[in-house]
Amino acid sequence: MSKGSCVVIVGSQWGDEGKGKIVDVLAEEIDIVARYQGGANAGHTVHVGSDEFILHQIPSGILHPGRTCLLGNGVVFDPFQFFEELDEIKARVPDAEQRVGVSGRAHLLLYYHKLLDRASEASRGAGKIGTTGRGIGPAYEDKVARQGIRVADLRDAARAETLLRRAAERINRKLEMLDSGEKVDPDLLVRDVMTIRERLLALMVDTGRVIQDALNAGKRVLLEGAQGALLDVDHGTYPYVTSSNTTAGGAGLGVGIGPTMIDDVVGVVKAYTTRVGEGPLPTEFPSPLQEEIREKGGEFGATTGRPRRCGWFDAVVVRYAALVNGLTGLAVTKLDVLDGLPELQIATHYTAGGDTLDDFPGDLALLAEAVPQYETLPGWTETTSTARTWDDLPAAAHAYLRRLEALTGVPIWYVSVGTRRDQIIHVAR
Ligand code: GDP
Ligand code: IMO
Ligand code: MG
Repeated sequence: MSKGSCVVIVGSQWGDEGKGKIVDVLAEEIDIVARYQGGANAGHTVHVGSDEFILHQIPSGILHPGRTCLLGNGVVFDPFQFFEELDEIKARVPDAEQRVGVSGRAHLLLYYHKLLDRASEASRGAGKIGTTGRGIGPAYEDKVARQGIRVADLRDAARAETLLRRAAERINRKLEMLDSGEKVDPDLLVRDVMTIRERLLALMVDTGRVIQDALNAGKRVLLEGAQGALLDVDHGTYPYVTSSNTTAGGAGLGVGIGPTMIDDVVGVVKAYTTRVGEGPLPTEFPSPLQEEIREKGGEFGATTGRPRRCGWFDAVVVRYAALVNGLTGLAVTKLDVLDGLPELQIATHYTAGGDTLDDFPGDLALLAEAVPQYETLPGWTETTSTARTWDDLPAAAHAYLRRLEALTGVPIWYVSVGTRRDQIIHVAR
């Protein structure tokens, strides 16, 4: 039995829900924050005072003094990008490197995975996924095909060199097949990896052991998801998904602890919906509301800068996210972005070919036929960004939030009304 507590924070739409902001707020009460999947495709924004940090691989707890930040075995680990990010953070948080650990079982994501990502996107033509170009799919392909290189493989330099040279040969064959025009130089690859080898090995830990020991000692652990439920490789809008299990089931797996260690799963959702990249978005706004909310919400990708597509809150999506994650609470972000809209719509269910769909369909062809059915609620004219308690919010915002709870079946535990740490409402449970 663990004496400590373990909470999982998961994106419950298509990513960019504001997980970084929520993790940073919750990290106040947490000892260890660990990432369990994904890689540098994530872009988690945290504001501290007037400083903005965009974290790609380093967990969003790093900005709180003393917190241990881990990258689990489920992450595809890009060491070059990681050290660049760490060095930037160290300029403002000098002890960051002493507080970071990386699983020896995590797979290395090297620049050739990015070449493959680019080449395979190009080969898909109009059917492209719109990836972040960070090499995520190819790195997970290598892992599942049992030809990846793991952090622990670097311990023996000679063995690492053999693995890297073998990988370079294999990747070059693949690149050629994809007509990429690019090639991996094995000598350069080995030379580059050797430059970070010792620095990385100094950070290597067994994340499962560290977390279990911490829980046994009564500490509090937060497992930070990247992306969102609808981007999960099993549960998302396949093939327009990422290549990992973003949902809570991936959390224990991705750090090396069992599911019985997890106490709560908090789903982060925007008060509306966004998506970046290709693939379906049933409640997408028409123009000019699309542009208005994009501007107001600053909806441009934290990793790629691409404009995010925006739409109404889709309760079918979040109900589904609640199911596949076993959500125990919700954190609703960006409520302030809806300030001033005369009325708000929520998709309650879909219809397709005369049938009612209460559950999010797994078949994209059926989803393409699905027409969201909306309920309209009154908006509010007040500014919510100054609210710090539930009672500070206008009555129409109360009604909107209560309706989200009723339609998703999950209680709201937090409401975020701005980018800053203090712009958070803890809802009485
Ligand atoms: P993540 O990937 O889930 O961490 O989310 P991103 O950082 O990619 O995108 C969320 C964006 O919304 C960031 O720019 C945040 O600073 C911002 N944000 C988070 N919460 C709020 C909020 O309550 N209100 C507003 N206006 N912005 C927010
Ligand atoms: P955070 O953690 C939003 C999207 C990409 C693309 C698809 C596959 O910041 O919420 P990938 O590079 O993973 O192979 O791309 O997934 N995507 C994200 N969208 N937020 C993210 O991360 C994302 N990470 C990947 O746009 O559609
Ligand atoms: Mg993001």
